[in-house]
Amino acid sequence: MSDFYKKILENNKKWVEEKLAIDKDFFKDLAKGQNPPLLWIGCSDSRVPANEIIGAAPGEVFVHRNIANMVIHSDMNMLSVLDYAVNALKIKHIIVCGHYGCGGVKAAMGNESIGIIDNWIRHIKDIYRYHQTYLDSIIDEKERFNKFVEINVKEQVYDLAKTSIVQAAWKSGQELSIHGWVYGLNSGYVTDLDVNIDSNEKLDNVYQLKF
Ligand code: CO
Repeated sequence: MSDFYKKILENNKKWVEEKLAIDKDFFKDLAKGQNPPLLWIGCSDSRVPANEIIGAAPGEVFVHRNIANMVIHSDMNMLSVLDYAVNALKIKHIIVCGHYGCGGVKAAMGNESIGIIDNWIRHIKDIYRYHQTYLDSIIDEKERFNKFVEINVKEQVYDLAKTSIVQAAWKSGQELSIHGWVYGLNSGYVTDLDVNIDSNEKLDNVYQLKF
């Protein structure tokens, strides 16, 4: 077995001991149930660990991650996570957190075929097309990449607001706001994109559902 594989099992034992040294009931209490106030939708990238970068303890954040933090309205995985978070856990905030230097977003800007993932990345290419005039006007490629990362996050925030799950929650008076962040791999800081949606009124009329 590799050293890394052995190490992570040892790390787990150490982590349990550390937690129990501070609070002997730590795991006993967690086992009783969860009541997280936040759903995190982030990139699968190994450098953007949800709990760690926001100092969240176990039990504080419900997490969904996929390549390029996408909210695809026909993705049963995402919809199931969202439904459980909103309707069972009654989470109050959803954060879509992208990150600068995202490989998925970068791939969407290019033409190279990578394999089956091309079909996932197609969704990001569609977003490029919606914002093509603006993005093509940015001469500096790095700057264009950064802006595309930000635009992608904003679109995913709106895509969450368009779901029947979120709109039904708002209709029933449930407190729920959706936010967009971008994490800086080279700084550790998140930038709040200041897209905070807490009703369906900001959506184009065609997406507004009546119940
Ligand atoms: Co990424």
